[in-house]
Amino acid sequence: KKRALLPDDIRAAKGGTPLVSLTAYTTPMAQMMDAHCDFVLVGDSVGMVLHGLPSTLGVTMEMMILHGQAVARGLSSAMMVIDMPFGSYEESPQQAFRNAARLMAETGAGAVKLEGGTQMAETIAFLTERGIPVMAHIGLTPQSINTLGGYKVQGRGAARDAALADADAVANAGAFAVVLEKIPASLADDITARLAIPTIGIGASAGCDGQILVVDDMLGLFTAFKAKFVKRYAHLGDDGEAAIAAYAADVRARQFPASEHIFGDEAPT
Ligand code: KIV
Ligand code: NA
Repeated sequence: KKRALLPDDIRAAKGGTPLVSLTAYTTPMAQMMDAHCDFVLVGDSVGMVLHGLPSTLGVTMEMMILHGQAVARGLSSAMMVIDMPFGSYEESPQQAFRNAARLMAETGAGAVKLEGGTQMAETIAFLTERGIPVMAHIGLTPQSINTLGGYKVQGRGAARDAALADADAVANAGAFAVVLEKIPASLADDITARLAIPTIGIGASAGCDGQILVVDDMLGLFTAFKAKFVKRYAHLGDDGEAAIAAYAADVRARQFPASEHIFGDEAPT
């Protein structure tokens, strides 16, 4: 059994073979990806893809902890990173520490992820100086859709300098890696070149130091909408519905259960 990767291993992967990551929310999904991913993110996207919430804003600490515990049971070699949910860290570094410590203690995650650039630098420093490795997340930050005005591409035109400043701020504050979401590829390449920590792209650039996708998106399980940056590697939602339709037809035609699924009066000899 390989030892679990640590934040320092992720940091050291800067500029090497691209880091591979997916989100996970359940034990079987975590088991499926453990051997293939360098790290697995218990993303607050869980609220949208598993709980049917309209955004990530309604995700709670309790939801993150339950899903984090489930994912931890399915991992042995990949590192586990857990998202801090909306409202659990923005108020102060102290609030962030209290909730990050709880997430790590109750789930066994090796690091937390939080959204925000320059404005979260003080909090990132506060956590990393006190034993909590932080993955940053800049560009499109879904917990801020109400102030960003929707899920638009970030960092274009005049916003480019602010995005570069965000990247510098989270790296200088001590983040061991940074997720770049939905920004122009040229900006992602510039950030990747200027930072000493790995960049993890989602809707960013193949030049990033790693990539992440929401697993339900890439498996075709979440079909409410498909972002341009999602590549569907399977269509499990369609396959699942076809299987359910076949089961329903079998039941209505008394074709299920068949002889191999039922029990006789006597135990077999
Ligand atoms: O919650 C999530 O799934 C994420 C990734 C898309 C980076 O934050
Ligand atoms: Na997230």
